Amino acid sequence: SKTEWEAEADVVVVGSGVAGLTAALRAAELGLRVLVVTKGRVTDGNTRWAQGGVAAVLDDGRTDHGRNDVGSIDSIDAHVADTLRAGAGLCDPDVVRTVVASGAAAVKRLRSWGARFDIDDEGRLARTREGGHSAFRVIHAGGDATGAEVQRCLVATARREGLTVLEQHIAVAALTTETGAVRGVRVLATDVEPAASGIVRAGAVVLATGGHGQLYQATSNPELATGDGLALALRAGASAADLEFVQFHPTVLYTPGARGRCPLITEAVRGEGAVLVDAAGKPVMRGVHPLEDLAPRDVVSAAIARRLASAPGGVADHVFLDATGIPDFARRFPTVLATCVAAGVDPRREPIPVAPAAHFACGGVVTDTHGRTDVTGLYAVGEVARTGLHGANRLASNSLLEGLVLGRRAAEAVAADLASGESAAAVAECDPSVPIAPVAERSSLQRLLSRYAGIGRDAEGLAVAGSALDVSTTDVPLWTSRAVEDAALTLVARALLVAAAARTESRGCHVRTDHPDRDDRGWRRSQTIRLNPSGQ
Ligand code: SIN
Repeated sequence: SKTEWEAEADVVVVGSGVAGLTAALRAAELGLRVLVVTKGRVTDGNTRWAQGGVAAVLDDGRTDHGRNDVGSIDSIDAHVADTLRAGAGLCDPDVVRTVVASGAAAVKRLRSWGARFDIDDEGRLARTREGGHSAFRVIHAGGDATGAEVQRCLVATARREGLTVLEQHIAVAALTTETGAVRGVRVLATDVEPAASGIVRAGAVVLATGGHGQLYQATSNPELATGDGLALALRAGASAADLEFVQFHPTVLYTPGARGRCPLITEAVRGEGAVLVDAAGKPVMRGVHPLEDLAPRDVVSAAIARRLASAPGGVADHVFLDATGIPDFARRFPTVLATCVAAGVDPRREPIPVAPAAHFACGGVVTDTHGRTDVTGLYAVGEVARTGLHGANRLASNSLLEGLVLGRRAAEAVAADLASGESAAAVAECDPSVPIAPVAERSSLQRLLSRYAGIGRDAEGLAVAGSALDVSTTDVPLWTSRAVEDAALTLVARALLVAAAARTESRGCHVRTDHPDRDDRGWRRSQTIRLNPSGQ
């Protein structure tokens, strides 16, 4: 398909979740001409499914009058320490401090734009707790609908500010200059057949495309989480890191044979006192970790996987979350209640059947604390990026925080870089040919990754998955959005399998059953990958 239209902007933001809209709003505020490109509607994306909340220390070092024990103090230092502990030795402490220290300002800004967070009986922002947090510091909205409120607020602000959004267009490839700088993107309509193709020339491209939960059969992510931005960045020559660290959320609602997006049962349910039990009613987390049900989620997911594998009579496929002791469940968790009731379970009276599912990509495109990748003109923010905040395992509710903080900082970097004239190089004549890339059949790919690169992996299984994937790919021209997504999933799957096979230890959410111990001498480092110029 030929290029049917061309447009120009100072900056193109790809993706319209928390990170993308935050970046776009800040860029517009700084006087840049911004175009947001998003493959669904502006209201779609992964942000709106976030339940638990935004982790933020609102009163640094001051006595907390909220839910923490009387007289206890929450602090930036404590939030930093919790993030580093969850990240299992691979976080960048400076990045963690930068992001955590910006939390209160980010929340304040969002409230000034109209976000309505839940308020406690004393008129303060209500706070809950989630896995790995040493304090009640997770603020929330609508009980368990925080992401939906954040998205609503950002979309309303974007409309108010007149932000230009091109909906139902997927980014296919970066436009690069002869020196390799990125100066725009090729996009494809997702809602018409045959798909119309266009190019947007711009001084900068900010990827805010989210993660790749769709590599797996069971995921909390919506259908659009297919790793498009990560694949685009790799093909444009950017480095990626930490791809082996896929976080599995311990609790999505279990329904037999479920496929696609599985409804999340927020960790805040455990924060409010619910307990994981097996089919015999035995607590899953007792004796596993001092924080028991509120251990970091890699620990909880791995413990569930072990309990399932050792179930009498063979492998079981779910455990239970007993939330019957939580008072006023309906007011605190309306989303979870509605989802469970629709599936025939009443969490106020009976335990909820739950299982782990792929949830979050801790790794991604390597960036600095301003979203800059190692390719001039290309930036990445939110889940698609690997900033060093999450290390080997993200702390609960640090992802909305990251999007809010880094989205803003990336826009500021774009403005500074454009003003310093770095964008002067002209875009080379765009290659009119449609890119061709290897593509595996999606459901086989999901089956392979779920079976061999899930919570527990070993060398043999990873090798089987790698060869099976290789033999099942065919080269396909990327002229439908489905082909673009499948090519992205295939590239990301291959990179993930290589990274997971190479890391011969267990750390954070990378659990190697054949290397169960953490190896700080050999492996206290990230693995960075980059495609060679032929795109392999
Ligand atoms: C949850 O509510 O359990 C998810 C929060 C997160 O992924 O940080």
